[in-house]
Amino acid sequence: MFQRFRRTRLNKHLRALVRETSVSVDDFIYPLFIRSGEGIKTEVSSMPGVYQMSIDEAIKECDELKSLGIYSIILFGIPDVKDSIGSDSLCEHGIIASAIREIKKVHPDMFVVTDLCFCEYTDHGHCGIIDEENETVNNDATLDISGKQAVIHAKAGADMIAPSGMMDGIIETLREALDGAGYENMPIMAYSTKFASGYYGPFRDVAESTPSFGDRASYQMDPANRREAIAESISDEAQGADILMVKPALAYLDIVREIKDNTSLPMAVYNVSGEYAMLKIAGANDLIDYERVVMETMLSFKRAGADIIISYHAKEVAKMLQSK
Ligand code: PBG
Ligand code: ZN
Repeated sequence: MFQRFRRTRLNKHLRALVRETSVSVDDFIYPLFIRSGEGIKTEVSSMPGVYQMSIDEAIKECDELKSLGIYSIILFGIPDVKDSIGSDSLCEHGIIASAIREIKKVHPDMFVVTDLCFCEYTDHGHCGIIDEENETVNNDATLDISGKQAVIHAKAGADMIAPSGMMDGIIETLREALDGAGYENMPIMAYSTKFASGYYGPFRDVAESTPSFGDRASYQMDPANRREAIAESISDEAQGADILMVKPALAYLDIVREIKDNTSLPMAVYNVSGEYAMLKIAGANDLIDYERVVMETMLSFKRAGADIIISYHAKEVAKMLQSK
């Protein structure tokens, strides 16, 4: 009968006027992996275009990010020495605290988010303190030291804390620890729905955090569970989270949409290492039109309800948006 917007005839300006979703450089947080030393910039073999960097190189990287319009980063630290409780992450002179301090000194206008976890800092590679008898993570012992790590980040100058270990009660614990230390205004972005996923494979190479025994299934979520995913987010919201997150992104867009519809908090997605690697490798082999597929993927996150995209593609997307 009567169709107003006949696709074949749609003028390109009208198409733009009626478009429902868009991707902007303001949507992105770019991950950086920091290690000690000077002048170090080592590409990760499983993630072409992603580097482990020393602090001086990360400072240069921020210049490039700002020239592209990217003002938000999330930092991961790779310490020289790992031990059973991840002591480096609890020390003011540890890699992450030093990185925050030095980056903020040169780039006070950069918004620095910190990943708060223990897997990069422990010799066993798990996200918390291990109970020796049963080789599982002790939730409550991990909460105690998580509060300490949050205050270390805050003192060093972090702008937002993002706990990624999925411990029960983590948001409430961090809120109390931060408030108690005078950081009542420090935002917390919860990795509220983090699935036990095979898509983290390349990250564990770059962060050197593959567990030496067992897996993370006791504290990360079962990919089969939808209701539980929603419940975790609602619980983190109730505990005081400021932003919720779904991770990985692409295989879980149904979860993003459902959480978005059930909360009023802003939502982030983490477009993880395995998702990045798949597109990179398909693109490098001319199996897909790389840029087109990257943009289509970013758009799918926004359409599903994400406000924030944490992605290794951020710089490429910024360049594509500039040349549009
Ligand atoms: C640490 C952490 C992980 C990622 C972000 N923070 C790894 C994991 O849980 O194994 C994954 C990011 C990625 O794959 O890009 N808890
Ligand atoms: Zn972890």
